[in-house]
Formats: sequence, structure tokens, C-alpha cells
Amino acid sequence: MKKKIVVVGAFVTDLVATMKEFPAAGESIVGETLNTYLGGKGVNQCVSVARLGGDVSMIGMVGDDAYGKKFLSFMDEEGIDHRGVFVHKELPTGLAQVQINASSQNRICVIPGANMGFGFEEEEKVKPILDNADIVMFQFEMRLDVIFDMIRYCHKKGKTVVLNPAPAAPIPDDILAAVDYLTPNETELAKISGISSYDTLEDIEEGCKRLKDKGVKTIVTTLGDRGCYIYNEKGNFYKGFKVKAVDTVAAGDSFNGAFTVKLSEGSSLEEAARYANGMGALTVQTKGAIPSLKNRECLEAFLAENK
Ligand code: RIB
Repeated sequence: MKKKIVVVGAFVTDLVATMKEFPAAGESIVGETLNTYLGGKGVNQCVSVARLGGDVSMIGMVGDDAYGKKFLSFMDEEGIDHRGVFVHKELPTGLAQVQINASSQNRICVIPGANMGFGFEEEEKVKPILDNADIVMFQFEMRLDVIFDMIRYCHKKGKTVVLNPAPAAPIPDDILAAVDYLTPNETELAKISGISSYDTLEDIEEGCKRLKDKGVKTIVTTLGDRGCYIYNEKGNFYKGFKVKAVDTVAAGDSFNGAFTVKLSEGSSLEEAARYANGMGALTVQTKGAIPSLKNRECLEAFLAENK
């Protein structure tokens, strides 16, 4: 039977500007296009799970404004249960300034707004939703003290905890020991584990070993188009797919969503890695966060074409 997934995470509207080259400090440039997309790591991960057929609910907070309303009606359209999403009366819905250059690299500055309004009071209210979950996914775009408390709660209740430590932040040892799947990218792995370089698989393995020693059960490091490295008892590298990237925003999120859907279906780590690498590869081929999150049919067709 499919396991129940709950995503605790941020709602962020992405204001995406494209340009040939990023401006240097103190420089003004003329850009090319400006688009607005729904995004935020929590929402992106939740929608990825939903579009891949996972049984998912969302927990978080939006502002009492047009963007907040848009997010709530969007969740309805996607058939996502958002009874754990609160509306803050004063703080605005989260916003991000996203810059994308001609090489499809991005720079993102998130202004969290209402996402930081989700506190211990809201945590108490969503405990019945957490109690009903099998797998709970977290990221770091909300108050860290509240996220850490919720991770402790989920761990105590025997839930599977998936933590995508983005944006990277120091993680207390008791939280590391409560995480079943930690899913950093290479730079986040370096910051969290303290490794000084992440150029080779040996470096990545060293970072994973350090985190494993602190009690993380499985570390899934995403390596962009190279694929991912999964470390539990030993490390295994799973090759990614080479595709033409136009916008890499949300690739990590869709990877997390696909990986967790496969966990919820009881698949092997190898199968979960292939599915997640494929989903990431599809995501980078479309502009915008939410528009780039494909459904199961699309992903399975892509995997069948790229055996
Ligand atoms: O991971 C990508 C997301 O991070 C974007 O949608 C943006 O909102 C930032 O929060």
C-alpha cells in the first residue's frame, strides 16, 4: 500500500528575470525577460509528489494577499490537501528574486515573509496531520527552531524523516540522528559536513561518512546532471541524464519529490535514484518552478526512452 507523505515547507512566488550575464556588485544591467511563477521548496516538492501520484498533504503558511490566495486555489486545482496551511494576517506571502543567466545558472534571494510566521502554535495544530503521515519531508525555508522541533516530534512518533537541508544551515547532532534521508546538493553537503572540497566522489563520500557517523541513516547527495550519490552502509553512485538545461530552478525539489514517491511505494534505492534523476532532468528543460514539474506519464516515457 502507498504510504502517506506530508510536506512541511515554504510558499514562495518567484519573480524570475533572465539576462545574458549576472550584474557585478554595484553594476546595473538591462535584462531580457521577467516572469512570475509559483514556487518555494516546500510547494515544489509537494507538487512533484502529487503529480507523480503520491498521496500528499501540505503544511505551511501564506500571507493574506493575492499571492496567498493564488497558492491556496492552486493547491485545490492540484488536488492537494492544504488543511495544514495557515494564513498570516500581517506578513506577506514569501517572494523570491530569481536571476537566470545565459548559461542557465541561477541566483536566488528569498524573502520568506509569512513562511517565518509558522510557529510553535501552528505546530501544535498540525500534530494530528503529522500523526497520520508515514513520511514527512522538510526543508530549511521556515523557522529552523520550529522545523527542528517538528523533526524531533516526527522521529519520536516513528515517521520516516526526509530532510532537504536547503538553504544550508548548521544542523544540531540530535536532528542529524533523527533524519532517515538527508538530501543535500554538493555545496550543502560541504557546509553541513565540513569537507573543504566536493570535486570528487571521494570528497562526497568523506562528507557522507562524517554525517553517517553523526547518525544520519542515509545521505542522498544530488550532483546536478552527474546524478546522485547514495550513502548508507556503503556509497553508490547513480548516473544522471544529459539534457539541455534552460532553467535549473526546482530541479533539486523535483528530485526530492520523485525520490520520496518511490520510497512511499516501497521501491529500491536504485529505482528511487533513477526516477529522481529522471525527474530532475525533465525539470531543467522547462522554464519556471511549478510549470517544470512533470507528471508520472511524462517521467516514465522519458525513462523508457533513456534506458
Ligand atoms: O528550490 C527552488 C526554489 O527555491 C524556488 O522556487 C524559490 O522559490 C526558492 O525558494
